[in-house]
Amino acid sequence: MREYKAFINNEFIDNGEWLEIINPTTLKPAGKVTALKSEDINQAYQAARTAQTTWSALPLLKRIEYVNNFKKELLKNKEELATIMSEEVAKGYKEALGEVERTAEIIDYTIEEVKRLDPLAMTGEGMGATNKIGIFSRVPKGVVCAISPFNYPVNLAIAKIAPALLTGNTVVFKPATAGSLCGAFFAKLALAAAFPKGIFNVVTGRGREIGDLITANPEIDMISFTGSVGVGNQLRKNASTTDLVLELGGKDPALVLDNLQLEKYATEIIAGAFGYSGQRCTAIKRVLVSDAIADQLVPILKAKVEALTVGQPQDNANITPVIDEKSADFIQGLIDDAKKQGAKIICGDKRVKNLMWPTLVDGVSVKMRLAWEEPFGPVLPIIRVNSPAEMIKIANESNFGLQASVFCQDLSTAIVVAKQIQTGTVNINGRSQRGPDCFPFLGIKDSGEGVQGIREALLSMTRYQGIVINY
Ligand code: NAP
Ligand code: G3P
Repeated sequence: MREYKAFINNEFIDNGEWLEIINPTTLKPAGKVTALKSEDINQAYQAARTAQTTWSALPLLKRIEYVNNFKKELLKNKEELATIMSEEVAKGYKEALGEVERTAEIIDYTIEEVKRLDPLAMTGEGMGATNKIGIFSRVPKGVVCAISPFNYPVNLAIAKIAPALLTGNTVVFKPATAGSLCGAFFAKLALAAAFPKGIFNVVTGRGREIGDLITANPEIDMISFTGSVGVGNQLRKNASTTDLVLELGGKDPALVLDNLQLEKYATEIIAGAFGYSGQRCTAIKRVLVSDAIADQLVPILKAKVEALTVGQPQDNANITPVIDEKSADFIQGLIDDAKKQGAKIICGDKRVKNLMWPTLVDGVSVKMRLAWEEPFGPVLPIIRVNSPAEMIKIANESNFGLQASVFCQDLSTAIVVAKQIQTGTVNINGRSQRGPDCFPFLGIKDSGEGVQGIREALLSMTRYQGIVINY
């Protein structure tokens, strides 16, 4: 069985306590990681603080060399990492491999972007100061706490770790429990990349036990968190004095405004709703459509949902087991609530433990939980609404505000509608998605705070340092 230890100051930590990671497909242990305690967490931050001055004083190209070596190790080990990911979070092997490759692309782009994080130079003449030149450089904030969710255990971790290190910060990284085998595996890559001591530390253990210790440590200069609204709001309270970037949950609506390309719309909607079994923050989690168009669209959606394969990650099934039975129970609860209130199951509504068949539910009303709560699973509600204005109203009444999709061939109409939707991003004639990773990625309202994306990650982990020359 895979046994991975926490990693502090370039040493593997074995305190004799272990956290078992359950394989969602077999429901048996996939491995175990060190379950750290408070004194270990403090050690990690001390190591990061001690290393930060020297690390940030290194020339940028030297830091780039280290991170690029890490990327090479990532690619060298991509099959192993994809296998671990498949076992750990039930992601299809091919999809897991794609996640590792996408992560290497993120590192490459981040390396290019950090080279262009040039200082801002200004004169004061516009304000009457005729003898000053200001040079405002971006400098590291210091020690970054990076916390990632289970659903992209490589991508959403490195998308924090790489920009942090490249800009001269040091990192204390907490992977999700389901994702910790991947997260702890990074330590081997860091050693192989000859990372200097203390710049990258992996603290493993259950979030509810050590989470507050990790996020309340006085050495933290910035927290980059991706995860649920519940934990995000806890961070907002606990770490109120620290710089925070929070990427949280979503309830992305798809507004279907015409029936001119229903086949294409349906393809986007199904890919958006059921990718990685719906366990994506940017998944399409509700369809808002008029009665007339719904009568044409639902049969097309049904055919596509029923064509999805259901099974094991190693067979690259479209739909694989959700992360655990507690999650499956929650998802089933939303479906049952909708059924009880009169919604119509078009297909699915079948499960074996945490393997849930993709479910399409029509006639979902705003009185049902499924209209508002984030299932984070393979279920798609159809909400029939007979005017674009009503669709926008319902879309905006959600506490979430991550992304949305507007399907409409008249671009002017699509833009007018998109501009009224209260989310970080609106996709016209495409499914909601974080990629391409160079785009700014943000949620508003309960969906987050601050902005991710490559350039924005670099900016969020640095601050200005101004030097004004008087002559
Ligand atoms: P989660 O339960 O909130 O966990 C996220 C991370 O926070 C994990 O590493 C978790 O560790 C840790 N954590 C738990 N309690 C903590 C605490 N008190 N203090 C500090 N850290 C703590 O979320 P998840 O189940 O992994 O991911 C699913 C959720 O994340 C969904 O709501 C999804 O929408 C959201 N998400 C958002 C984005 C985005 O970019 N907006 C991307 C992916 C996922 P443990 O696993 O050990 O508890
Ligand atoms: O939920 C993870 C979020 O980052 C989604 O990424 O590329 O699948 O939209 P993507």
